[in-house]
Amino acid sequence: MASSEASSGRVLNSVLAQLVMSGEEAAALIQPGSQIGMSGFTGSGYPKAVPMALARRVAEAHLRGEKFKVNVFTGASTGPELDGMLARAGAMQLRMPYQSDPTTRKLINAGEMQYIDMHLSHVAQLVEYGFMGKLDLAIIEVTAILEDGRVIPSTSLGNNQSWLDCADKVILEVNSTQPLELEGLHDIYYGLGLPPFRDPIPLTSPNQRIGEPHLRIPIEKVIAVVHTDVPDRATEFKAPDENSKRIAAHILDFFAWEVKKGRLPSSLLPLQSGVGNIANAVLYGLEEGPFQDLTAYTEVIQDGLMNLLHSGKMLCASATSFSLSREGVKEIMPHIGEYRDRIVLREQEISNHPGIIRRLGVIAMNGMIEADIYGNVNSTHIMGSSIMNGIGGSGDFARNGFVSIFMAPSTAQGGTISTIVPMVSHVDHTEHDVSVVVTEQGLADLRGLSPTQRAKVVIETCSHPDYRPALRDYFSRATKISMGKHTPHMLTESLSWHSRYLRCGQMLQQDRD
Ligand code: COA
Repeated sequence: MASSEASSGRVLNSVLAQLVMSGEEAAALIQPGSQIGMSGFTGSGYPKAVPMALARRVAEAHLRGEKFKVNVFTGASTGPELDGMLARAGAMQLRMPYQSDPTTRKLINAGEMQYIDMHLSHVAQLVEYGFMGKLDLAIIEVTAILEDGRVIPSTSLGNNQSWLDCADKVILEVNSTQPLELEGLHDIYYGLGLPPFRDPIPLTSPNQRIGEPHLRIPIEKVIAVVHTDVPDRATEFKAPDENSKRIAAHILDFFAWEVKKGRLPSSLLPLQSGVGNIANAVLYGLEEGPFQDLTAYTEVIQDGLMNLLHSGKMLCASATSFSLSREGVKEIMPHIGEYRDRIVLREQEISNHPGIIRRLGVIAMNGMIEADIYGNVNSTHIMGSSIMNGIGGSGDFARNGFVSIFMAPSTAQGGTISTIVPMVSHVDHTEHDVSVVVTEQGLADLRGLSPTQRAKVVIETCSHPDYRPALRDYFSRATKISMGKHTPHMLTESLSWHSRYLRCGQMLQQDRD
């Protein structure tokens, strides 16, 4: 219990203080076959000490030839101490609803682990209604436990309150590296309920507060309180490269045009920005742009968003989690209390709520793996069968946003793969959910266009010149040969595109080398 001294002043409730134990002692209370709801969203606010101890316990059990696996539900991705260690120990039978860990990904794609990749706003209801079976345990990272038992949440909220409500037993991990200044930043809405007893959510602006700042802990369910001083995984962002900067510039031009046309106010509409380097580059681009008084209704607060808040370009932001770089954590977290009136962290059921996204008219901006010429988007699968991360919140925002933008460089893997293809190898966002496709080559506004009109615009605007002739050729032959002329396709050829052009792309790369 190396960290107990640092965080012992953070467990003020006398009943819960009696339950303090080490990660190993807490992990020993977990039964094989358990279903566990853990905190954690985009590398923030996930438990560390107990999952690490559990991974060690499972590894030892496997060495003795004993079977030991658990099912793990979270808010979204976590960090190496949770997904990484549990995956390496072979401890997870099933993972839900999002991951971005290399070992977990490998096991899923090798068919050695089950994975349910789903819209993040849907998860709590699915579990609360019992579709996933019984939740045996919740393991939730918190910042501190107050005298009266109320709890200051950590750097993400995700599904925490739902796990606390649904689980039979609860383990709390108190993390002394999370600043006490987080108190007051969260807004947990207790009025949602399950259908048919659900009322409208009274949220009409991004930084409005409709709930309470503390998690409600069912004290009688708590079986352990564990101290930790392991910090959150910090997200390392690369400095924006040329492609990211060009994509950002296209998006800013698009916003300026929309404002000029009177279709967006000069402060734009609440922004949602997905994960990754391009999304961060767009946020940095907005810092240079002409727009003022911006707001965000999004999932994750990255460095780029904090930058906008710091400079005053952005008035306020609502999300469910932080996902800051190491420097971001060092610079921002000690002063996070200064942002209490301008940042709200909500549960993911609310941060990603389709009704609110629609009501606020959110501008959704998300990364993609590939888009097809008709505007269908694949966000999750490489070559149609291997999962990358998951759909995350992109579907919640894309389908319900005022404008839905998908972005990627026009080629991947050193130019050997075109990200604009005749038919996506897996569909996450259908042509009906995608307003804009943008690559470094250009931005295609697909609103109000028929499929064949969209195909021309996507090929001519977004595709890389190395692949454009092949895409034009495909579309022109499909238009002549296809039985249906509404969305012309040559199915055998479109389905073989990925393997054929992967080979061609590799040849192209060799030519260049
Ligand atoms: N075929 C093969 N590989 C591809 C590819 C394609 N069409 N497109 C991308 N890749 C590879 C890249 O080469 C890169 O590989 P590497 O790690 O070996 O270099 C990897 O996939 C990631 O690509 P990158 O360009 O760095 O992507 P990113 O960080 O911008 O992330 C997504 C892109 C789609 C993976 C990411 O946005 C995502 O997971 N989205 C779904 C969830 C989401 O949108 N969440 C936000 C909602 S709020």
